[in-house]
Amino acid sequence: MDNLIVHGGARLNGTIPVSGSKNSSLPILAAALLTDEKTVIRRVPDVSDTNYMLAILRSLGADVERASGTVTIEPKAIIPDAPYNLVRKMRASICVMGPLLARLGEARVSVPGGCVIGDRPIDLHLKGLEALGANIDVEGGNMNITAENGLLGKEINLRGTHGPTVLGTDNVMMAAVLAEGTTIIEGAAAEPEVIDLANFLNAMGAKIEGAGTRRITIEGVEKLHGVDYTVIPDRIEGGTFLVAGAIMGDDVTLRKADPVHMAALIDTLRGCGFQIDTTEDTVRIRPGDGGPLANEITTEPFPGFPTDMQAQMCALFCTTPGISVVTEKVFPQRFMHVAELTRMGADIRVDGATAVIRGVEQLSGAPVMASDLRASAALVLAALRAKGTTEISRVYHIDRGYEHIDDKLQQLGANIERQQV
Ligand code: EPZ
Repeated sequence: MDNLIVHGGARLNGTIPVSGSKNSSLPILAAALLTDEKTVIRRVPDVSDTNYMLAILRSLGADVERASGTVTIEPKAIIPDAPYNLVRKMRASICVMGPLLARLGEARVSVPGGCVIGDRPIDLHLKGLEALGANIDVEGGNMNITAENGLLGKEINLRGTHGPTVLGTDNVMMAAVLAEGTTIIEGAAAEPEVIDLANFLNAMGAKIEGAGTRRITIEGVEKLHGVDYTVIPDRIEGGTFLVAGAIMGDDVTLRKADPVHMAALIDTLRGCGFQIDTTEDTVRIRPGDGGPLANEITTEPFPGFPTDMQAQMCALFCTTPGISVVTEKVFPQRFMHVAELTRMGADIRVDGATAVIRGVEQLSGAPVMASDLRASAALVLAALRAKGTTEISRVYHIDRGYEHIDDKLQQLGANIERQQV
């Protein structure tokens, strides 16, 4: 198990490339199961979550090769059983439900357990698959999903109490591409990763319209074919490095980024007093004239402020003068980072789904523990700014979703090292 040791205070400066999106890659890798032909997927980040997904695809019978960011999948003959020992490691494994059901007419997948960022039910995924004609039995912790007579297109409303569901929209879209007739998903998630999956499926021969809006129309086709596809940049990884620049008051540029996907974060950081300049594929952050300024953010589904950047913004507000208010509307319990930031000297009070952060002049290095992926990223950011040394344990949480975060931060000038314990 690795630790990260961060000696705070080193200035950051320079340009780093953004990796391919983890949250696009996961459903797209699963969607490769929808054809028996060979598919090439490029710019897949080398993080443990994508490696879990590849292990699941192999266990289902697919031939999988990985050469750095390029993954080749040939799922000629596959089986419908996703094994518990792999599924339990990653919630996004539920993405194989839609493709297995569509291609084989059956899927057996473990019910995913709870998760540190909240309850994370999958009722909307199941509601969508049932509407298409699937039969679902839960026994011994496994879901047995069958559609003996195939799936039939239907109009489905997928909006839940906390808004649309990203992977739920993905699962229903993947099931519907091979269904008979037309499926309409109302209340669909509009995240860039959903659009990326729809573009991938359309490149395979699917007929999907409206991805990126709340109403997606899918006209079922008989067969899909293999493709060569490149996933979009990771807006959350890129955003995390922008906040690193912000927290240090330094000059950091992202390349191979997509500023359009990062608009809500960029607007918020501008509102915090930072100067941000963009081109088609770069984003540069520098200190502005009067900043940094306290701010209020509320997380919302896209195009609102992303929940996956909430913890990192909390880290920034810890040393921003004044009082900042952070409200979490997507996963109201997602405040695992607060207790550890407090150990570093932050002044944060959480009341329900809202954190009130009073900026302090200085954080101090401390031994802290990574919990979930983005909470851990927040600790790394706070450690860059803190006085002294921070030792972050349980770094495997960070490695689930950040490709070589320590190397990239070193490139920018951070004093960070990985230690095997
Ligand atoms: C995706 O998770 C992302 N994961 C998450 O990123 C991200 O935080 C989340 O979307 C929201 O943007 C991947 O793409 C792999 P949801 P997902 O279903 O799809 C409720 C990260 O850090 N809900 O959109 O599982 C749910 O509880 C990760 O990279 C139901 O009620 O999230 C939440 O309140 C963490 N019933 C809201 O909807 C359901 O059946 C949105 O969750 C499904 C979800």
